[in-house]
Amino acid sequence: MPERAQKLSELPVYLLASIPHKKRELQARGIDVIDLGAGDADLSPPPRAMEALKRAVHEPAMQRYGWSLGLPAFREAVSAWMQKRFGLSFDPFTEVVPLIGSKEGISHLAFAYLEPGDVSIIPEPGYPAYIGGTLLSSGTAYKYALRPRTNFLLEIDEVPPEVLRRAKMVYLNYPNNPTAAIAPRDYLKRVVDRCRELDILLVYDNAYSEFAFDGYRPPSIFEIEGASDVAIEFHSFSKTYNMTGWRCGWAVARPEIASALAQVKTFVDTGPFMPIQAAAVAALEGYDEFVPGNLAIFRERRDAAVDAFRSAGFSCEVPQATMYCWLALPEGMPSAVFAERLLTDEGVVLLPGSAFGAGGEGFVRVSFVTSPDRIREAARRAARVLSAFGAGIA
Ligand code: MLT
Repeated sequence: MPERAQKLSELPVYLLASIPHKKRELQARGIDVIDLGAGDADLSPPPRAMEALKRAVHEPAMQRYGWSLGLPAFREAVSAWMQKRFGLSFDPFTEVVPLIGSKEGISHLAFAYLEPGDVSIIPEPGYPAYIGGTLLSSGTAYKYALRPRTNFLLEIDEVPPEVLRRAKMVYLNYPNNPTAAIAPRDYLKRVVDRCRELDILLVYDNAYSEFAFDGYRPPSIFEIEGASDVAIEFHSFSKTYNMTGWRCGWAVARPEIASALAQVKTFVDTGPFMPIQAAAVAALEGYDEFVPGNLAIFRERRDAAVDAFRSAGFSCEVPQATMYCWLALPEGMPSAVFAERLLTDEGVVLLPGSAFGAGGEGFVRVSFVTSPDRIREAARRAARVLSAFGAGIA
């Protein structure tokens, strides 16, 4: 039996992937599990997307390979939406890359840019696909610890110069998973300028651009002057349209960058299933009729989560964006131990901060992806575990 590649042993555990197995075991024992783990809503996608899928799935031409071109209407709808939402113009055929979810594109991009010894700068806590793509493509990850006192912003100038010399990519994600932090425009301008000076590819994960509350409208990185020289931006249907399992997203960048990602993908996949691309077109075209109402539901869930978990003894900011509350744990309480105890004793899934890298220690992430009543019930159960720890009996 051949040895597995060394890089597999360097990968962290992808905790979210193991949760369905644990959940199944608990449910088989009759435990009522409340899942606030993945950012995976319990709501339906837009009806017009489901109708479009139904129609497309019966068309013989839609069963065939999409190849990297995919459905031309998908590229055109993405380009039109980027124009309408951000006022930005992207050529549908050279500057848009259809993806099997933004995660797939984010991971594969590293294969297009990293050689052994090249560094990518990764925020910690951060979405695990950044480190996964880097390590699987034999790059080196430099982990930058995001901190509450600097609003979880990644400051390139704090990276040591010898690392910057080897850095080829930096991953930024605002609105941020898991901290829910948002980035001011002057910060984004600073990062774009530094990436241009240092010749570093700015990988902007904008999966939560439409998931914002209280009038906040997250920008595209391409609204920042100079970004088109150095950036690629990723978008997803998962969160905006409750379409996590459909696996569809896109990247936009100037042709030189977009074609590098597309080239890698020609060897690993043949594009999203075309009926899904047709459904995604319907979702984009129906944005105004679906997204504001969906967000109103999540706003109520967010408020319930903040109130309930604060009353349960946790501290957290009110998230202005994303579907996450980033709860601070009492000093010295290991997040993995707390999360494991909450799951086994009380049947509540949430994610320990350490699942997003060592920089996430001291926090847990709650996804407000279910009803306010269930969220309140989860918080009551979490309060019991917290007080058991406080009493030193956990
Ligand atoms: C999350 O819940 O952070 C992600 O959206 C799920 C994943 O892709 O890992």
